[in-house]
Amino acid sequence: ADEKTLLITEIKQLLKQEDAVMVAHYYTDPELQALAEETGGCVADSLEMARFGRDHPASTLVVVGVKFMGETAKILSPEKRVLMPTLEATCSLDLGCPIDEFSDYCDQHPERTVVVYANTSAAVKARADWVVTSSIALQVVKHLTDQGEQIIWAPDKHLGNYVAKETGADMLIWDSACIVHDEFKAKALVDLKSVYPDAAILVHPESPQSVVDLADEVGSTSQLIAAAKNLPNKQLIVATDKAIFYKMQQAAPDKLLIEAPTGGNGATCKSCAHCPWMAMNGLTNLRDVLKLGHQEIVVEESVRLNAIKSLNRMLSFTP
Ligand code: 13P
Ligand code: SF4
Repeated sequence: ADEKTLLITEIKQLLKQEDAVMVAHYYTDPELQALAEETGGCVADSLEMARFGRDHPASTLVVVGVKFMGETAKILSPEKRVLMPTLEATCSLDLGCPIDEFSDYCDQHPERTVVVYANTSAAVKARADWVVTSSIALQVVKHLTDQGEQIIWAPDKHLGNYVAKETGADMLIWDSACIVHDEFKAKALVDLKSVYPDAAILVHPESPQSVVDLADEVGSTSQLIAAAKNLPNKQLIVATDKAIFYKMQQAAPDKLLIEAPTGGNGATCKSCAHCPWMAMNGLTNLRDVLKLGHQEIVVEESVRLNAIKSLNRMLSFTP
């Protein structure tokens, strides 16, 4: 057997031995997504990952994604050991919203309800009233607006602008962006659409408003995969991390999936439609963490107890 096959066999054995289950995101390497599915784990969007990890009986969760996903798993399941292939895998939104600055900002607007995106640190979640992911942001903000609440939104400015536009909410919006989705370009997308006039355009709402405005479907990663399956169009232009193509193509095997255009080549574009932090996850560091347990998520208990309140508001929300 080749090296990769041996590695996969070893990981499968270690998952059993350690009573561990993989909780993977759609932006990770297709090899990891396939392995998660094959071994009884999940491949999901960030909301479904949180629910799956919380509800699964395994005593160890291996979160294959980025750090905020590992922290969310730990906040919801303190009794479980939460490992990640690397704790270095962060997110530009998490980095763009440091707790001290954010907390000062919230203190300046005490009358506002604080809604934060899941792509934040445990400490930022602990400062918030609500956590939302892209799959549920519109419904939660609409609900708060119907109750007459004014909102602080952080950190993704594009998702924030989209939600404000759709719901009419009164929102103060933090200035931060996802380095991957921020690269999608509206003008180039219009040009591409003219080449494929029958194509539907699928957009993750972390993309700039000018790109969202061109979309036939806007949604979380899971919602975009569902749309790929359900839309009648045979051609789909997709504005999100290209690692999603693995599951999207499985969901819509007869369709042509086309990458939406980004800012350019490696010289001008930092990410080029693949998250550099998601890409840090691999078979080797997955094997290593199962063997050594050295990349373990720790969340301070006082932070966790506050963060779980805002997370549970989301998880128990029914529109
Ligand atoms: P989803 O909740 O849509 O999976 O998004 C997570 C993410 O990090 C997108 O960049
Ligand atoms: Fe963060 Fe963007 Fe990577 Fe998602 S794709 S984890 S939002 S940097």
